[in-house]
Amino acid sequence: MHPPNRSARPSGRTRLRRFLSILSAAVVAIGVSAAISAPADAASTLGASAAERGGRYFGAAVAAGRLGDSTYVNILNREFNSVTAENEMKWSSTEPQRGSFNYTSANRIVNHALGQGMKIRGHALLWHQQQPGWAQGLSGSDLRNAAINHVTQVATYFRGKIDSWDVVNEAFADGGSGGRRDSNLQRTGNDWIEAAFRAADAADPGAKLCYNDYNTDGINAKSTGIYNMVRDFKARGVPIDCVGFQSHLGGSISGDYQANLQRFADLGVDVQITELDVAQGSNQANIYATVTRACLAVSRCNGITVWGIRDSDSWRTGENPLLFDASGNKKAAYTSTLNALNGGSTNPTPTPTPTSGGPIDTNAWYVLVNRTSGKALDVYGLSTA
Ligand code: G3I
Repeated sequence: MHPPNRSARPSGRTRLRRFLSILSAAVVAIGVSAAISAPADAASTLGASAAERGGRYFGAAVAAGRLGDSTYVNILNREFNSVTAENEMKWSSTEPQRGSFNYTSANRIVNHALGQGMKIRGHALLWHQQQPGWAQGLSGSDLRNAAINHVTQVATYFRGKIDSWDVVNEAFADGGSGGRRDSNLQRTGNDWIEAAFRAADAADPGAKLCYNDYNTDGINAKSTGIYNMVRDFKARGVPIDCVGFQSHLGGSISGDYQANLQRFADLGVDVQITELDVAQGSNQANIYATVTRACLAVSRCNGITVWGIRDSDSWRTGENPLLFDASGNKKAAYTSTLNALNGGSTNPTPTPTPTSGGPIDTNAWYVLVNRTSGKALDVYGLSTA
């Protein structure tokens, strides 16, 4: 056999025309479906698909009080390979009286997750909200000591079980200042965040230690303030491993969402999408897919957590921001997310694509399907190169 003659190789455009004419013929013979947009051998759940993409996780915030709901638990066990306690690991839950710790609700979630082989994100050791009443009444060194003791006790108790801890949550101000939020914790001194990270590191050196915040879903004053803190921590050896981007989103997403994740990753920390939910609307499915593709495109993005399972479980009452409806049915946003995890199209209901001529969507996967058997025969991506 002779090696292929390079000069006789058809040009890219010629090959494309030939491919399209083959595709066109195939339409007549067996039909082409553009509605399936994931590779035929792709995993079929969020967690399994994320795991196939570099060992990432796809998690959900879980409420201990819902673990008796079989619809909820069935979806959790089927689709997710990571959990975050929605409220049960917060200060008011775990240390309701000073020095008296209660892990009953948290352990219901931890034990369920461990039994299912799921990862656990710890949320959150220190936050200006959901503090117990006794801590709200403290200030100065008394509060600082109580806060650091809380970090030490809780992180020690769960040592070895937590994949990533939100050590500090929401410490930066909204608006254009790029500075810290005022809070009782902030008033104990600007070094309270690094003190918390050092205490968490001493208590559980195996857990990734994250700073977590919202309104950081693009390059803006707030995310830049956090970026500068992380850069400073890395320069001074403060033990920070990751940054959480909550991603409570509305009807649009910043065009530099991925670039923002990447600039943090370039500082030498992992990034995680920690509380994703997106207001229901015509763009919901696309926004979920965009976030998913952004995480996949950043090698240090460990995974995505959605902030609840069904719309009816969400803190955003009436906004239907999650992947499953109140009955537990998969929404279009679920399909677009799964397709994105599997490397497919961003569009959950693709426009039928012309088989010759017309615009080519180079981001889409096209699956050749036998209409009689419904069997996927092959997967194609189109290229103009
Ligand atoms: O458990 C009590 C219940 O006994 C009582 O009858 C009821 C009356 O209001 O309140 C229940 O507690 C509520 C708790 O959720 C559990 O449902 C609290 O009032 C309510 O404030 C609390 O809201 C949580 C909120 O954080 C607190 O700020 C949400 O569930 C939780 O989803 C939300 O999560 C936060 C993240 O931790 C940080 N990022 C933002 C995110 C959304 O706000």
